[in-house]
Amino acid sequence: MARLKVGVLISGRGSNMGALLEACANPAFPAEIVTVISNKADAAGLATAHAAGVPTAIVDHRNRSREDFEAELNAALKSAGVELICLAGFMRLLTAGFVTPWYGRLINIHPSLLPAFQGINVHARALAAGVRFTGCTVHFVRPEMDDGPIIIQAAVPVAPGDTPETLAARILVAEHRIYPQALRWIAEARVQIDGNIVHLAGARAVEEAVINPQ
Ligand code: GAR
Repeated sequence: MARLKVGVLISGRGSNMGALLEACANPAFPAEIVTVISNKADAAGLATAHAAGVPTAIVDHRNRSREDFEAELNAALKSAGVELICLAGFMRLLTAGFVTPWYGRLINIHPSLLPAFQGINVHARALAAGVRFTGCTVHFVRPEMDDGPIIIQAAVPVAPGDTPETLAARILVAEHRIYPQALRWIAEARVQIDGNIVHLAGARAVEEAVINPQ
């Protein structure tokens, strides 16, 4: 069966992109990454993609209108034959003009249990709020920031003495698990969007509460 053609958009380190690349390195995985595009020329993830033999491109957002930036991004994705876009630490807001035509084919990972802690500085804000769990979310993108139908989440416990950095590191491990899982489900056509709700064919639900602290 043909593999789903994925374009990954990054702005920096690219560790989630790395997790997706690793999953796609298995020929039996139902998706392949055909391009990695960064809005920043110095994004460390570009070297990782290059080393994996994936074509990369830079589409700089500076000194131009959002429309112009998004038009070039869209053209680059189209010319690479992209069928699904994965945002992986892509730190630019995309307007409705870009998002709407890709609706249902554009996903993002965010390091909180959405809809809690949208935006930036999420780990410091989670610690300040005193939550016992935070986590990460893979969701379909809508024009509103960090909003859209949720595909998968991982709940990650907050530990005594956590700093934003230690919490971020624990969540990142979970991010690297759930992003390839979400991509697999979409590529296997097991994901159906029904308004704000995602239905997953054949996925096992978790039945027990996880309690923190014990
Ligand atoms: C990840 O933690 C990702 O969830 C977050 O940026 C980091 C990128 O790391 N994304 C957002 O905050 C988007 N709102 P990475 O470049 O190593 O994947």
